Amino acid sequence: MSGLSEDLASLPLRERLTLLMNNEKIFHVIFAQQFDRDVLDFLCRTATQLRKVAKSVEGAKFLQTLLGHKSAMLYFTQPSTRTFLSFVRACQYLGMNYSEVRDPRTSSMVKGESEIDGVRTFSSYFDLIIMRHREKGFAERTAHLMNQIARPVPVISGGAGTDEHPTQALLDIYTLQRSFEARPNGIEGLYLAFMGDVARGRTVRSLAQLLACYPDVRLAFVAPEELRIRDNLRAFLDRADLDYIETEDVNEVIEDVDAVYVTRMQDEYDVDHESEAIDYTRFHLTLEHVQRMKSDAIVMHPLPRREELDPRIDTDHRAMYWRQERNGMWIRAALIAYVFNVEARILDYYGTHYNY
Ligand code: NCD
Repeated sequence: MSGLSEDLASLPLRERLTLLMNNEKIFHVIFAQQFDRDVLDFLCRTATQLRKVAKSVEGAKFLQTLLGHKSAMLYFTQPSTRTFLSFVRACQYLGMNYSEVRDPRTSSMVKGESEIDGVRTFSSYFDLIIMRHREKGFAERTAHLMNQIARPVPVISGGAGTDEHPTQALLDIYTLQRSFEARPNGIEGLYLAFMGDVARGRTVRSLAQLLACYPDVRLAFVAPEELRIRDNLRAFLDRADLDYIETEDVNEVIEDVDAVYVTRMQDEYDVDHESEAIDYTRFHLTLEHVQRMKSDAIVMHPLPRREELDPRIDTDHRAMYWRQERNGMWIRAALIAYVFNVEARILDYYGTHYNY
């Protein structure tokens, strides 16, 4: 079930993306394809300045004044603590209040109210909805509903079924940008391998789409036959003319890549335990693999991990997954500031206090 109304589902994607804008700026954040290179560079810069400003007592106090009059609802009906807390802290840095809905079974859904009616009701108490949902179209549908009501509030997706996880992709881009900033062309020309369940991994789908904003990026999808990338991502990559390969053997690429992005089996989306028949051990990243990687390559993982990422890699200088998480908090704060049009005030403050 996509959760989308037929009207919306029948529109071309380009038009659906336009519906998420307001005054030529991103208003709702639902798809990776809403971002272009300029916005990505801008958000990364804002995140870096924001994290520096937040280090001083004065700076932290200033940030808290930016959105002290706003409040967010975190509507997270799929399991989450990492992304949830990262958004909570992002709101707090900007002085925003927040409340949470984690379990709609405690709401009037038990009285027969539809979920979308519930969200509409709750939205009237808040200025922002941050949403994680198992149905891939539900956040988009909420955004569309917001556009039709008298008091629209922006919707930011924190994960939409197997489809997309746009803010994870932003933090992954931010991590790549920071990891490779010493290179003349940064992310451009990088070779990145996605490994594991690239069929259902929403972080893979969103990041692959953002990477299309950078010239000469090459991708490898290392996955079991049953969990290869889905046709719509393949069609996107072909349209974007992105150079990519698909393989079942990580040894083919491990020595050449600049980054390997490991993912766990997304078996919560199994229809009938089909994952159990797959030998996933061939898609575990071992210490031995990492020792064969280039010395300036990096290892990424959206976390949580299971056995696919050996904990002995954690102390290797190439392990970047714990930093990814902290980067996520900053880029989410930058994104919220951007959606509420206060990002220029952060850059001004930084310019005045840090650029002597
Ligand atoms: C990911 C997700 O929820 O898609 N987690 C996260 O938000 N960092 C990855 C996963 O659950 O495997």
